[in-house]
Amino acid sequence: MTTEATTPRPRFSLPELAAMKPNGEKIVMVTAYDAPGARLADEVGIELILVGDSAAMVVLGHDSTVPATVDEMVVLTRAARRGSHRALLVADMPFGSFQISDADAVANAVRFVKEADADAGKLEGGGASLSRVRSIVGAGIPVMGHIGLTPQSATMLGGYKAQGRTAAAARGLLADALALQEAGCFAIVLEAVPAPVATRISQALRIPTIGIGAGPGCDGQVLVWHDLLGLTEGRAPRFVKRYAHLAEDIRQALSAYSADVRRGVFPAEEHTYGIPDEELALFESELDSGVLIRAEDARGSESDWL
Ligand code: KIV
Repeated sequence: MTTEATTPRPRFSLPELAAMKPNGEKIVMVTAYDAPGARLADEVGIELILVGDSAAMVVLGHDSTVPATVDEMVVLTRAARRGSHRALLVADMPFGSFQISDADAVANAVRFVKEADADAGKLEGGGASLSRVRSIVGAGIPVMGHIGLTPQSATMLGGYKAQGRTAAAARGLLADALALQEAGCFAIVLEAVPAPVATRISQALRIPTIGIGAGPGCDGQVLVWHDLLGLTEGRAPRFVKRYAHLAEDIRQALSAYSADVRRGVFPAEEHTYGIPDEELALFESELDSGVLIRAEDARGSESDWL
């Protein structure tokens, strides 16, 4: 574990984000679920960190995003906030946190801001979510929309399938996107949408689109941390690009560590703490002479950990 003093740059702002689309600058978003991950994303200048409810699957081991709770997401968002000072931190509102009522949605969004210092919330869906978006934005909390493949309603959509693949469905997505913009969203995630459809939606909106499986015509892109870094293995959705193969690196590191421990070569001299010779001699002579050390003597003065 290392700690480094860094001078935090000011937090990225919504106006800065809004200016990127007209300037033709691509926006980068990545999911992160803890402080070290968020710190690394911050260090490389990523604009948006999403504490996605994908955490339910990639961190908490569930089969879908549905079981994620607000309590769990607040803990993960707060952790990511501790690591991130520059990026805009977006908290994904999990299933059940905004479906019940506008008031409930606002109360849960407020929790992410007050308890986790999130900058914004994200919620899935078009039509049915519009009044939720209006209410949360009305409470002063920025909202990112999310349409196309919305994993919280994968059952309703007939599975994890690309959306907007007929003219009528594409028209529906465009209508949802425009309505979310009017409701006050500052950006919209387009997930698993044909590239030409996502391009036309992006062109029709003032606000930026962030694509995942929606082609290069979106104003920005997002990938899930574990997918991008190769911490998930095996078959992945076609839109995933693995920029590293960390699962294999971790497996090799764990095997090497296990082998070292079993062979007795870890810890080595440089990993251990010393004791002055005279103190050790005294300790050993006390042991040899059978003197019992009282607890308060044993406590003595302790040296630094590092
Ligand atoms: O939960 C998540 O990680 C997401 C992204 C895939 C957009 O919603």
